[in-house]
Amino acid sequence: MTFAAKVVAVTGASSGIGEATARRLATHGHRLFLGARRTDRLEVLTKEITAAGGTAAFQRLDVTDAADVRAFVSAARELYGRVDVVVNNAGVMPLSPLEALKVDEWDRMIDVNVRGVLHGIAAALPAMRAQGGGHFVTIASVGAYEVSPTAAVYCATKFAVRAISEGLRQESTGDIRVTLVSPGVTESELADSISDPAAREAMKTYRAVALPASAIAEAIAFAVSQPSQVDVNEIVVRPVASAQ
Ligand SMILES: NC(=O)c1ccc[n+]([C@@H]2O[C@H](COP(=O)([O-])OP(=O)(O)OC[C@H]3O[C@@H](n4cnc5c(N)ncnc54)[C@H](OP(=O)(O)O)[C@@H]3O)[C@@H](O)[C@H]2O)c1
Repeated sequence: MTFAAKVVAVTGASSGIGEATARRLATHGHRLFLGARRTDRLEVLTKEITAAGGTAAFQRLDVTDAADVRAFVSAARELYGRVDVVVNNAGVMPLSPLEALKVDEWDRMIDVNVRGVLHGIAAALPAMRAQGGGHFVTIASVGAYEVSPTAAVYCATKFAVRAISEGLRQESTGDIRVTLVSPGVTESELADSISDPAAREAMKTYRAVALPASAIAEAIAFAVSQPSQVDVNEIVVRPVASAQ
C-alpha cells in the first residue's frame, strides 16, 4: 500500500503507545517529529527509525508548558515545512482513591492529560488553518467513557479530552480532521507512576490482559491514512478478553 507522506508530530513518543506510533507511521513513509522529556529514549528511537530508512527527528518536550509545545510544533514546521498531524498522546495515570488526597497527582494528571492536549491544539491549529488542513489525533482511554474506583481524576481528564476533541471537530468542519483513539489496557509504562500501594496492586490484576502498543499504533495509522475527506472521529480498542 502507498500512503500520502505526512509530517506527524507525536507527543509522549519516548515509550509505549507514542513510541509504537512513531515506528508504525515511519514505516508508512510519514516524517516524524518526536517529543517527550526523556530525550535519551527519543534519540535511540530516532536513530532506529532513520537506520531503517524512515525520517524522524526529536526535541525535548514538556506538554505542561504551552511555550514549550509551541516551540516543538514550530521546530517541526521549520524542519519539514509544515505539520499535518499532531498526535496528542502524552499522558500520566497515577491512580488513587480520592480520599488519599493526592492533590499533586491530580494536578499533574490535569496538567499533562488535559492542558497538554490543549497546548497541542493551540500550537498547531493556526498553522493547520493557514496551510488549508490538518489532523489532531488525541489519545483518550476507555476511561473517557466510564469511571472506576481509584480512577476518578484520570477518567475526568479523559472525559475532558473527549469533550475537547468533539468540540474541536464541530468547530472545524472543512479543513481539520479530529480523531479520538481510546485504548483499553495496553502494554506500556503508564502504571509505573502509581504511588498508591492499593491502586498499584489492583492494577496488576486489571492490567494482566493487555494489548501490545502496536495495536493502538495501528488504529492511529488507520485514521491518519484515510482520504482527506474522511474523518474517523472515535476509535475504541480493547483486548478481546477484557470486559473493562
Ligand atoms: N497503556 C494503557 O493501558 C492506556 C490505556 C488508555 C489510554 N492510554 C493513554 O495512552 C497515552 C500514552 O500512554 P502509554 O500507555 O503509552 O504510557 P507510557 O509508556 O507511560 O507513555 C507516556 C508518554 O507520555 C510522556 N509524558 C508524560 N508526561 C509528559 C510531559 N509532561 N511532557 C511530555 N511528555 C510526557 C512520557 O514521556 P517522558 O516521561 O519521557 O516525558 C511517555 O512518552 C496516554 O495518554 C495514556 O493515558 C494508555
